[in-house]
Amino acid sequence: MNRQQQAEALELMADGIRHCGKCRLCESRTHAVPGEGAADAAILVVGEGPGAREDRTGRPFVGRSGRFLDSLLAEIGLDRGSLFITSAVKCRPPGNRTPRADELRICREAWLVPQMSCIDPELVILLGLTAIRSVLDEAPSLGRVHGDIVERDGRRFLLTYHPAAGLRADDVAERLRADLAVLARV
Ligand code: URA
Repeated sequence: MNRQQQAEALELMADGIRHCGKCRLCESRTHAVPGEGAADAAILVVGEGPGAREDRTGRPFVGRSGRFLDSLLAEIGLDRGSLFITSAVKCRPPGNRTPRADELRICREAWLVPQMSCIDPELVILLGLTAIRSVLDEAPSLGRVHGDIVERDGRRFLLTYHPAAGLRADDVAERLRADLAVLARV
């Protein structure tokens, strides 16, 4: 697929996501949030799920966590437009609760895996345990594995914290910053 074909395929998926009714999260969302960025991005970023502002706007990581993520990326010379940013579930869980196992599974199979195949990034950054659990089907201790790059089925994944956790604790913010610094070398 060339870049134009990738962009078209992603837009078709985005349209499907905006109209998705495959799980209960569609009942309470305002807007589904497909994700955005470069169709042929070398780096795909996967968060947990949309928050209140993302639900209102239909855009990923536009709240406090997103601003923090942008600032961390800027520190290593990366602009979000050069990446593709999405989340494990595309619709906001009510009250920002953690997405349930069936919601993660349904969204992964219907949307996240096809997005990943289409973009075919060199590296996938998994932000937080929910993204790790969804994509790798593993629940490691982040304290032990953060900063690791693991390979599964020929794809590389960087495991790190969710920016929201970094906003809550300075030491986590420092670990997240250090983990993302490896991107300057990717
Ligand atoms: N947190 C996420 O995991 N995804 C978003 O889009 C926003 C906040």
